Amino acid sequence: MFIDKIADKYHYIIGKHMDNYFLETDIHFPKELLDAARDVAINYPEKLIPRDRVWHKIYIGMPYADMEKVLGVKDAREIYKRLIKMDRAFPGGSQIKFDQYSLPDELQQAFIDACPKWMKDLKGREELIPIIQLSTNGNILYPHRGHFRHASIFCLLEHANEHTRWWRETEPFKLISDFRIPDVSKLEAAYEIEIRPNIWSVFNHAAWHSVHSNKDFEKRINVGIDFATLSVDEFLPILQSNSKTVVPANLL
Ligand SMILES: [Fe+2]
Repeated sequence: MFIDKIADKYHYIIGKHMDNYFLETDIHFPKELLDAARDVAINYPEKLIPRDRVWHKIYIGMPYADMEKVLGVKDAREIYKRLIKMDRAFPGGSQIKFDQYSLPDELQQAFIDACPKWMKDLKGREELIPIIQLSTNGNILYPHRGHFRHASIFCLLEHANEHTRWWRETEPFKLISDFRIPDVSKLEAAYEIEIRPNIWSVFNHAAWHSVHSNKDFEKRINVGIDFATLSVDEFLPILQSNSKTVVPANLL
């Protein structure tokens, strides 16, 4: 139902075309490894190693004076306007608490070991960066994007039937520093799916995307392998020639 409301406003398209947002692959990791990651996340979260999250320093509801301290006068004014637009675009939204970690070293190495050989042969082990993400509370991750145009593969372990939505820019706007806050009035929804658990998929973090749930999250857990330098556009043809995954022709 919440989706219908947003659909009226943003004319999203579900499953009609894909652009380069998300693609299920036949890449497979052993179940024991996924279970081990889930076990650490749920039972031993203190063993996870937090990753830098500079963009978390800015948030909806933050006092304007604090924002100015972090961003300076000019950018603070723009970001403040963007946050107000964001709040209006998603009434009733409460930000999901979202944390990104590295796994304990042994598990981290086990994930790299378990990557298909062709992935390890691309640019060596340093190209492959396993990560784990935990999301709790809240019902929305507001539209945001990664810093770089890099590919990653993604696997959902625990979920709440939330929807992931990708957005395209209807007109360009400035990307302010490391803070991934878009001008939502210059975005339109382009593609939306409910990601299925336990299937490794290509996830384009470089495109604006958001996550929406009709109930507050208890816990959403996903693991991923980020590529240090490879873009999605570079990765898809490599995936096509090395695996059984069928990459749509328009993406090659
Ligand atoms: Fe994201």
